[in-house]
Amino acid sequence: MPEGRQVQQMFSGIAGKYDVLNHVLSGGVDFWWWWRMARVSGARPGARFLDVAAGTGDSSVALARRGAEVVSTDFTHAMLRLGPPKFARKGLQDRIWASTDADAQRLPFHDATFDGITICYGIRNVERRPLAYAEFLRVLRPGGQLTILEFSTPVLPGLKNLYDWYSRRVLPRIGAWISGDASAYAYLPASIRAFPAQAALAGELREAGFSQVCWINLTGGIVALHTGLKEATGE
Ligand SMILES: C[S@@+](CC[C@H](N)C(=O)[O-])C[C@H]1O[C@@H](n2cnc3c(N)ncnc32)[C@H](O)[C@@H]1O
Repeated sequence: MPEGRQVQQMFSGIAGKYDVLNHVLSGGVDFWWWWRMARVSGARPGARFLDVAAGTGDSSVALARRGAEVVSTDFTHAMLRLGPPKFARKGLQDRIWASTDADAQRLPFHDATFDGITICYGIRNVERRPLAYAEFLRVLRPGGQLTILEFSTPVLPGLKNLYDWYSRRVLPRIGAWISGDASAYAYLPASIRAFPAQAALAGELREAGFSQVCWINLTGGIVALHTGLKEATGE
């Protein structure tokens, strides 16, 4: 796992091409994955959500479209600054606030502030995940839900082989070609392979103190949605 500063440098370098590469490399399925994430998160009118590692804000847009009030935050300014013009273009500027750069491991928010926390394709890059989980529990209100959307381990045998070939052979080449940064798109599949599979990630969340932890696989487990609650009786 690279250090936080290296992660910031990497995302600063690819920020301008990040959105287009997401759509190209996922074949456009990324929009559906965000849509499912927002639905599962419980985002609804009036709910206060924190979108951690929000990057250029597409995950925040999905939450705001369901009526939630969203604080969209990240620790890479070059990514975060691309959010507000997008929110304005979509007429969501009154529902999403791009907050000061915030490290997931040290969130600049008061205890029990949010009804929901989401982190999409971000937790894989966090250097010390237990610190982030503790922060998520701290800023969630009792009964609030954490939702993690992350690349995972395909569960269908045929798909596993195909995806392996795609992520080793095709994805790094297209990523390097469009972004001009070969190392960032070599890091992506390598970091996915090093990341805990579905059950192991669920175990981490339970160990951190989340309750009712469960997950659903999307697109055969290429990505997974994990959820966990902060116990309502915990305070
Ligand atoms: C792959 S992008 C995801 C952006 C967005 N959530 C999405 O769904 O497209 C990962 C983001 O995580 C951010 N990130 C990585 N480690 C972080 C940390 N420790 N604290 C806050 N943000 C972090 C990076 O700056 C980057 O913008």
